[in-house]
Amino acid sequence: MKYRAIKGTKDILPNDVGSWQLVEGAVHRVMRDFNYKELRTPIFEQTALFARSIGELTDIVSKEMYTFTDRGNESVTLRPEGTAAALRAYIQNNLSDQSPLTKVYYLGPMFRQERPQAGRLRQFHQFGAEALGGSSPLLDVEMMLLPMEIYRQLGVATFSLKVNSVGCDRCRPPYKEFLRTELLKIQRQLSADCQARIHNNPLRVLDSKDANDRRLTANAPLIKDHLCEECKSHFTEVQRLLDTLQTVYEIDGRLVRGLDYYTKTAFEITSTALGSQDALAGGGRYDLLVEELGGKPTPGVGFAAGIERLLMVLEKISGSLRADSGPVLFVVALDDASRRWTFAKATELRSKGAAVELDYLGRSVKAQMREANRQNAQYVLVVGESELASRSAKLKNMQTGYETPVSLDNFTLPIHSPA
Ligand code: HAM
Repeated sequence: MKYRAIKGTKDILPNDVGSWQLVEGAVHRVMRDFNYKELRTPIFEQTALFARSIGELTDIVSKEMYTFTDRGNESVTLRPEGTAAALRAYIQNNLSDQSPLTKVYYLGPMFRQERPQAGRLRQFHQFGAEALGGSSPLLDVEMMLLPMEIYRQLGVATFSLKVNSVGCDRCRPPYKEFLRTELLKIQRQLSADCQARIHNNPLRVLDSKDANDRRLTANAPLIKDHLCEECKSHFTEVQRLLDTLQTVYEIDGRLVRGLDYYTKTAFEITSTALGSQDALAGGGRYDLLVEELGGKPTPGVGFAAGIERLLMVLEKISGSLRADSGPVLFVVALDDASRRWTFAKATELRSKGAAVELDYLGRSVKAQMREANRQNAQYVLVVGESELASRSAKLKNMQTGYETPVSLDNFTLPIHSPA
């Protein structure tokens, strides 16, 4: 085999695409119900956009971006996430002039050069949403509800919601200093990664996966206990809303997201059906980011969810997802003249919205019947010389085996393909 897909990328094959379409359908439906409009941004952007928003010192920017210099000598990057691009589009196209609150969603491939493993790819897919212009905790909670409603509609009930507040530019800096001082006391015992983080981003020491780091930091001060009045009351209201909705959640004081732009609310949805990469979705508020990227001061909040990880959960709980529905009708032709007729009939029925298939390979009747079966066709119509002469044929229901005589001239299908 001469050419292979790039490591960490995957083909979505025809047999698997049905489950993708099922997920995408649920995303479009739920977003419509919550009145989010789709936004489609380019797959690559100026490198500085991501460096500035996600943070120079994050793993994503420092180690994982697909960055290259194009022929015009500009540094461009395949988008590692959707928020930065959505905000760039919001600012560039003055979307705030159209409405004080902009609610958008997106769906598509993202790129991060991470070490591939189960649930971690280099080209993966996300759906996500951003609400720009509103600082109400209602929107923070709406961002949690969106993925959970999509999961519910797809039959996934096994997930946990973890929420935290990461403070703002008033309460976080003094807390950060306090935490740094505490961590310096145990610096030498921490993992090498965490030792570096004490200086760069001490909050990230708290979400280290290393068991020893976790044990050592078990009593470390948490940001949620050091919030300013405004952040505290925002966080309290988020919890009150979740309680009102009777949503099960856990406050996780160690939850710090891997992107630097968050203020106040941060959340993650995890599933025990996944392995070590257990995050199905994550998000939070970023009230300083629009201004940081050159726009007017605008509060914002959003989330993004991995589609491959959701499909892994769906496969685990239901074995396999709904099999692709086959054509409503397979028209079997016995000779060349009938093949011409079946082709014309299939074209006519397709133009009326029915999924119809026929034989293109000049196969025997037996082989055509086998193919109709393999494709899960609901009905089969066999047409040969005598059927064309008598202008009638038998329509066979493949499930019951029952045959109904039909007229070839007035023949229309009773059943349309499922939408
Ligand atoms: P994130 O936590 O980096 O957040 O990614 C969100 C989700 O994308 C993860 O929970 C996971 O399901 C999926 N994901 C991330 N990396 C990979 C990977 N290498 N392979 C497979 N799936 C992956 C963001 O991207 C933020 N933009 C979310 C956000 C939107 N915050 C505010 N607005």
